[in-house]
Amino acid sequence: LTATDQSAVNNSADNVILAGDRVLFYYDARRTWLTRVTENSPPFHTHVGIIKIAEAVGLAYGSSIITTLGCRIFLLKPVALDYIMKSERRTQIVYPKDFGYIAARSGLRSGCKVFECGTGSGGLTTFFASLVYPTGVVHTFEEREDFINIAKKNVERTGFSSVVKFEHTNPTRTERSSYQAGSYDLALLDTGDPWNLLPLASDLLRGSGFVFCICPTTNQAETVCEALSQNFVDVECVEILLRRIEARLGKTRPSMRMIGHTCYLASGRKIKPEPPLENS
Ligand SMILES: C[S@@+](CC[C@H](N)C(=O)[O-])C[C@H]1O[C@@H](n2cnc3c(N)ncnc32)[C@H](O)[C@@H]1O
Repeated sequence: LTATDQSAVNNSADNVILAGDRVLFYYDARRTWLTRVTENSPPFHTHVGIIKIAEAVGLAYGSSIITTLGCRIFLLKPVALDYIMKSERRTQIVYPKDFGYIAARSGLRSGCKVFECGTGSGGLTTFFASLVYPTGVVHTFEEREDFINIAKKNVERTGFSSVVKFEHTNPTRTERSSYQAGSYDLALLDTGDPWNLLPLASDLLRGSGFVFCICPTTNQAETVCEALSQNFVDVECVEILLRRIEARLGKTRPSMRMIGHTCYLASGRKIKPEPPLENS
C-alpha cells in the first residue's frame, strides 16, 4: 500500500484519527471542509469561527471540536462521494444517483476489473476504484493531458490510486495488447460518441459483462441503444431522478430546487455473436 492508501484504510478498525488522515469537518450539509490533519496543521478561518484542525489528531471519528465562536464541528471519515464532491472539476462529472445505479445494476464489487473511456475529472473513476479496491482495477483512458493530470491528483487524495491505471490516450488508437481481451467486468463509456467505442468494449468485456454509456442527450441515447442491440442483450436506457425532501416536523415537503437532468444511462450485457436461428 502507498502512504495515501494506508490513510484510506488503516483507521477502519480502531476509528481513531491519526496524523496524516484526511478528515471531513462537518458543520452542516452546506458547510463542510475536507483536509489532511497533522499535529502541526495550521488552524483555518471560517465564518463559524476558527477551526483548530490539529486538535482532531487522536480523537475518534464521529466526535467533535468547538470553534472559537462556539460552533460544534463533527469529525467524519470521508467516503468516496465526499472526495468527489470536493474535487477539482473541469468537466461534467457523473452524479451519485447515476453511478450508484450503475454499481447496483452491474453487480460490481471488490476485485472486479473496469475499463473506462473518458476519465475527465476522475469522478466516476474514484467511485469505481473505491468499489473494486483493494484487488480489482480501474483501467481508465483520457485523451486530454490537462484533464488526466487533474484526475490523477483527485484520485491520489482518496487513497484508492493503487487500483487505478491511467492511460493518456484514445484507446481506439492504442495497441490492444496493452489490455487483455475478454477480461473486464464492466465498461464505462463517458465520451460524446460511445457508439464508436462499443466494438472495443465488446472485445474487452468477459461474456455477460456490462457496458454503460453515459449520454447527456436523447440523440446520443438513441444512437447508442441502436448500436448496443447488435452485440449486447438486456439493453436498457434509463434516467434516474432524485428529489430531495426537506423533512421537518409538521412541514415536510420536496425541496423547491433539484438537478433536473444529468444524463441517460444506456447499457447492455455482452454476448457471443451467433448466427440467426433458422426459425427466427
Ligand atoms: C464528460 S467527461 C468525463 C467525466 C467523468 N466521467 C467524470 O465523472 O469525471 C468526458 C471526457 O472524455 C474524454 N474523451 C472523449 N473521447 C475520448 C476518447 N475517444 N478517448 C479518450 N478520452 C476521450 C474527454 O476529453 C473528456 O475529458
